[in-house]
Amino acid sequence: MFDINKFLGMVPNASEHGKLVDVLLAVCHWFMLFLFVGWSIFFIYTLWRFHRSRNPKADYHGVQSKASAHLEFTVVVIEAVLLLGFAMPIWAKRVNGENYMNNANSLRVHCIGEQFGWNFHYAGPDGVFARTNPAFISSNNPLGIDPNDPAGADDYYSRNEIHLVNNRPTVIEITSRDVIHSFALKHMRMAQDAIPGSRIPIWFKPIRAGEYEIVCAQLCGSGHFGMKGKMVVEDQKTFDAWQKDQMDLAHPAAAAAPAPAAAAPAAAPAK
Ligand code: CUA
Repeated sequence: MFDINKFLGMVPNASEHGKLVDVLLAVCHWFMLFLFVGWSIFFIYTLWRFHRSRNPKADYHGVQSKASAHLEFTVVVIEAVLLLGFAMPIWAKRVNGENYMNNANSLRVHCIGEQFGWNFHYAGPDGVFARTNPAFISSNNPLGIDPNDPAGADDYYSRNEIHLVNNRPTVIEITSRDVIHSFALKHMRMAQDAIPGSRIPIWFKPIRAGEYEIVCAQLCGSGHFGMKGKMVVEDQKTFDAWQKDQMDLAHPAAAAAPAPAAAAPAAAPAK
């Protein structure tokens, strides 16, 4: 069947809820096309019907029939049913993120936009994010993770590359370090403005492994065009291996030290 979304340049869907978004988009596009054609025909008809040559004398009374009033009232009723009966309940369901926010299995990532790139902060295996404070920002601590917070011992970060687990509920909390950006995951049918001072969550479930593009969808400065990133959706095992690499990079001392069990006896005599 002819896919109007694809025709208009929509990329393939890779999220669980994306199918519904695509259906809604397709319905809207077809309906708008129908309205456009219908009103265009009506416009041309009125040019012909009310042309000066057909109406040499002006009609000062206008339409006498009540048909248009009834028609307009019917349109208002139909639109009220669509809005109150369908649009609002469907939207309420979509914005209710309880199944994601209160789900212990959800993968949580903090996303921090800046001119011009995306930073991702992961909590590590303990699932607890360390405190961050701009005062701690340095070249080897780009997110300002508080070194005194024990929760940060397994935190790690990546730049312009986010890794997600296929079929796992995902919550990304988005903020910005400078101006307003927009974190757009077209394949996930998701976009959210990144606003300094706010941490705004989005949630979805990836259903197709692969590599996808992240774009900034808000004009944010001279480098806006280059504010792109990569989203990798992979299985849990591949993700765990990537996570370990990132932790070793973020905590070189812990990576170099032998396993804690072996280290304990050796460390004792040294003190
Ligand atoms: Cu950031 Cu455009």
